[in-house]
Amino acid sequence: MGNGTENREQWGSRFGFIMAAAGSAVGLGNIWRFPYITGQHGGAAFVLVYAAIVFSIGVSVMLAEFVIGRASGLNAVGAFKKLRGGAWPIVGWMGVIAGFIILSFYGVIAGWTIAYMIKSFTGLMAAGAAGKAGDVFGAFVTNAPQVVAYQVIFMVVTIWIVYKGIGEGIEKYCKIMMPALFVILFVLIVRGVTLPGASKGLEFYLSPDWSKLNGATVFAALGQAFFSLSLGMGCMITYGSYLSKKEVLPSAALTVAALDTSVAFLAGFAIFPAVFAFGIEPGAGPGLTFVTLPNVFAQMPGGMFFSFLFFLLLFFAALTSSVSLLEVCVAYFKDEMGWTREKASWLLGAVITALGIPSALSLGGKFPKIAGKDFLDAMDFISSNVLLPLGGIFIAVFVGWVWLESGKKEANNEGKVPFAWETAWVWIVRIVAPVAIAWIFVKGLKW
Ligand code: PHE
Repeated sequence: MGNGTENREQWGSRFGFIMAAAGSAVGLGNIWRFPYITGQHGGAAFVLVYAAIVFSIGVSVMLAEFVIGRASGLNAVGAFKKLRGGAWPIVGWMGVIAGFIILSFYGVIAGWTIAYMIKSFTGLMAAGAAGKAGDVFGAFVTNAPQVVAYQVIFMVVTIWIVYKGIGEGIEKYCKIMMPALFVILFVLIVRGVTLPGASKGLEFYLSPDWSKLNGATVFAALGQAFFSLSLGMGCMITYGSYLSKKEVLPSAALTVAALDTSVAFLAGFAIFPAVFAFGIEPGAGPGLTFVTLPNVFAQMPGGMFFSFLFFLLLFFAALTSSVSLLEVCVAYFKDEMGWTREKASWLLGAVITALGIPSALSLGGKFPKIAGKDFLDAMDFISSNVLLPLGGIFIAVFVGWVWLESGKKEANNEGKVPFAWETAWVWIVRIVAPVAIAWIFVKGLKW
């Protein structure tokens, strides 16, 4: 028990690892969540705050996670046990629990993307042409058996990839899906910005509305940064545990953060110009992608095809993230409980799917609200805005105060690789990240 280091699976190449880690980061958070949150919080002003958080606290916590993972060669709980023990494994525990919660609702929304790929060819465009994609969405999310069926299909694909393992599963499929995702995004951006009237959308997206900037904005940006970069729950610890000692970690963290931020930012270019070109109100909220966009696609020549491509993009993004969420849980049960990968993937996958059913039902109003929020929103809020930032504080404090000298050695490969921003990293994990996260948390936490 707790000795997964011998014969541990490893990434086959640096490219494979970067695709897997960027795959984890790039997800529904970038393409579904980021554009509408940006729209709600003042456009470019929000983007700037977000980028500042990502490239200070975000990359630093990510590097801290890679370092903890590679040094221990273990899952999130086992890593803290091995490196220090005491109460620290609780941080890993919180991460595994966050993994269960996030994947439970993530699988539901990811299931919608499969349904929408199919709907692109079966009536969604006709409804969209009449501006009625909202009715299609409403009818779909209230149809519980359908929503659950698509959730189950998505989860089976996720489980199967994780069951195949690190090299033959996660790495192999991320190496295909991530480049495909970039190509599709590029096609959609070119389509969007070349539409007549696209510039109004760019204006909406890029002109900052500073008046919307307040504590709540910064809080939203922080939660979004942790969610989008897959931080604070041991995901990057787990992925880091499959890295070779030769890999250079600081540049890997920067690369993954840069890829993640580019996709989020570019998703806005694929969406807003097209929305404005057809004079459609950008839907505020989660409906932006599932309601506004089908209305938009229906107006374009070849809309069916672009609609399908868009939901395929969302599906790839979701799948490369869901496998990382499941892997956090699987690695824990494998390393610490001695389960086989096969048993852990299928059994935990089934449990998580079952946990997601209340979320699946909640949007159709078939599940009681929790203090005024839909069950799905409540799960999203608790995980992204509470568990992940808290996990981030503890991970930063662990590396910054408890385990710093070993952490530095792991980050610069025992002094063998240059680490230009070491001083900045140390200051951020010691002071900036814990204080800033705690402050934003206390100021901004509002149900
Ligand atoms: N980063 C993913 C996204 O943006 C979600 C995620 C969160 C994945 C936490 C793993 C861990 O969609």
